[in-house]
Amino acid sequence: MHNILEVRHLSAGFSARKSEVKAVDDVSLLVPEGKIVGIVGESGCGKSMTARAVMGLIRYPGRVISGSVLLDGRELVGMPEKEKRALRGSKMSMIFQEPMTSLNPVMKVGRQVEEAIRIHEKVSREEAAHRSVEILTSVGVPEAEKRCLCYPHQLSGGLRQRVMIAMAMILDPRLLIADEPTTALDVTVEAQILQLMRTLSSGGTGILLISHDLGVIAQVCDHVYVMYAGRIVESAETAELFDRPLHPYTRGLLNSVRSLRGGGDVLDTIPGVVPNLMRMPAGCGFSPRCLECREECVRDVPRLVDEGDGHLIRCFLYEGEAAE
Ligand SMILES: Nc1ncnc2c1ncn2[C@@H]1O[C@H](COP(=O)(O)OP(=O)(O)OP(=O)(O)O)[C@@H](O)[C@H]1O
Ligand SMILES: [Mg+2]
Repeated sequence: MHNILEVRHLSAGFSARKSEVKAVDDVSLLVPEGKIVGIVGESGCGKSMTARAVMGLIRYPGRVISGSVLLDGRELVGMPEKEKRALRGSKMSMIFQEPMTSLNPVMKVGRQVEEAIRIHEKVSREEAAHRSVEILTSVGVPEAEKRCLCYPHQLSGGLRQRVMIAMAMILDPRLLIADEPTTALDVTVEAQILQLMRTLSSGGTGILLISHDLGVIAQVCDHVYVMYAGRIVESAETAELFDRPLHPYTRGLLNSVRSLRGGGDVLDTIPGVVPNLMRMPAGCGFSPRCLECREECVRDVPRLVDEGDGHLIRCFLYEGEAAE
């Protein structure tokens, strides 16, 4: 199958006083045509940074350190900004985690959606206005015509997020990156947005859906990458991952969701927090929290190995020698 997005050995981070800290460390991932691919992981594990690195939108002082990002076979790393700008919006677009920072506060939302259309397509004002109302309605904005006349601050957080989603989807991009697109929304709106993503992907768009919510991932993703402390620690088809989670971190994530849903009184959560970038463990990033941690886990970083049928896992429990 054709891969719309191919990320190879991507590292990105920040320059610190003495050294460089990596927020994204050797990440490789694929988004095939017409598929929804998920990245899941706790806060601070590098999901947004990965998304911004793909879009070429990392904010200073961050930067892409190494690796390759291919969009429909074209290399984006090192591409002149002008060319990348032409691709953003038309070929690839992103729904940002913080909608307020990506909307213009002094322009009515209708105008902003219209402009998003008119930057890339030659259509009249009337046509653009008509399409804006149409797409805003389709993402669940009630009385869209009226809302078009509002400024962003006059809308609720949920509505602003829907405006962002409309703007990202309006041009039917090849690649859509959605960074926590439904986190601020209630469940009925969330269901609508996820349905829109399915529709978009069935038309061929490749979607990279970022979420800390395994429930959202399970509902729509074909394939999942689990990220921890900047690295991919596990990757598999969605059904396979949920049936046979291998990494202690993935198992912990699933357990915490399952015990929440099951209504049990003891929450089986993972103790500890994601490590600070400045104090990353030398070995596996998860080792300080891992109940199955061994000597080598603290010392070395495990490789990402294929456990069969493309189920990838980065853990010494599954590396041949260590398992002996
Ligand atoms: N300007 C900065 N300087 C140094 N470190 C930064 C900077 N911005 C972000 N980071 C760090 O980069 C890491 C990755 O952040 P990122 O925003 O990608 O996480 P995330 O997985 O999207 O988390 P969340 O679920 O909270 O959105 C974090 O450890 C964060 O503290
Ligand atoms: Mg984020």
